[in-house]
Amino acid sequence: MKPEVLEMGPMYPATQAALEEAFTVHKLWLAPDRDALIASLAPRITAVASSGKAGIDAATIAKLPKVKIISHFGVGVDTVDTEAAKKHGVTVTNTPDVLTEDVADIAIALLLATVRKIAVGDRYVRDGKWLKGSMPLTDTIQGKTLGVVGLGRIGRAIARRAEAFNLKIAYQGPRKKSDVSWPYFADPVALAKEVDFLVAACPGGPATEGVVSKAVIEALGPQGVFLNISRGSVADQPALVAALKEGKLGGAGLDVFSDEPKVPEELFAMDNVVLQPHVGSATHPTRKAMGQLVIDNLAAFFAGKPLLTPYE
Ligand code: 8YV
Repeated sequence: MKPEVLEMGPMYPATQAALEEAFTVHKLWLAPDRDALIASLAPRITAVASSGKAGIDAATIAKLPKVKIISHFGVGVDTVDTEAAKKHGVTVTNTPDVLTEDVADIAIALLLATVRKIAVGDRYVRDGKWLKGSMPLTDTIQGKTLGVVGLGRIGRAIARRAEAFNLKIAYQGPRKKSDVSWPYFADPVALAKEVDFLVAACPGGPATEGVVSKAVIEALGPQGVFLNISRGSVADQPALVAALKEGKLGGAGLDVFSDEPKVPEELFAMDNVVLQPHVGSATHPTRKAMGQLVIDNLAAFFAGKPLLTPYE
């Protein structure tokens, strides 16, 4: 008999198929009565698979006393109550590394798209405006400084790329890193004052909520550009929208928002803003690799082997 897994929400189709091949999967999101399914599985279910929006909260963890592993699809585990998991002796695994390069690519794409007005140029051509005259000139990224909030795996991958584009780097985070020589700022406002562009690459969750505050946004200033590929929660979104409206911030390239898939409509009319629907890791090879890690962690758990990517 195949081991049983409770799945919180649907995954990438190839992962979904492989998951169902390897395990007996109980699909919570399809259950007509979620509480009844949880109650019926509670006496025996030991493993949960969760993903993105379909995480798992403290109340659900408490209702599943036999669970030992939550295998999460995503590097960010902000939709999993990791504190509750720890309290109940449940190990959470995530999907780091495999998505780093794709997410870093999107950060650089957003930077170039925002500063060099790629989407504006695309519309300019399609709308036939080029036939009537050249598009206005733009700013450049050359010789500018990029501030990285959160110099983890993804932050470093962004910094590496940015250096290849002749940008200088500075960073902020909970601690100075001993293996890099880029200037470190403990205070995000101090970092924002020093840089031209600022990218949020830190994890989401309570520890980083609002770290890109109104003060940070305003310190970045009317020529500054803010980029976010981490979580909407790390920025004060109303302050961000207001600063863009009032010309206190030069532009923004955003892949993430505080209430996805809802995006403040005021941003739609702004040519200095580039919007993406949370696609940092959304390539077939990366989503496949993320899914494989979800499955491999579950398989390791059922085989009594060490987990591949425990979170923390
Ligand atoms: C996905 C992500 O959008 O890994 C993360 O933390 O934000 C993305 O890769 C999401 O997890 C998919 O469910």
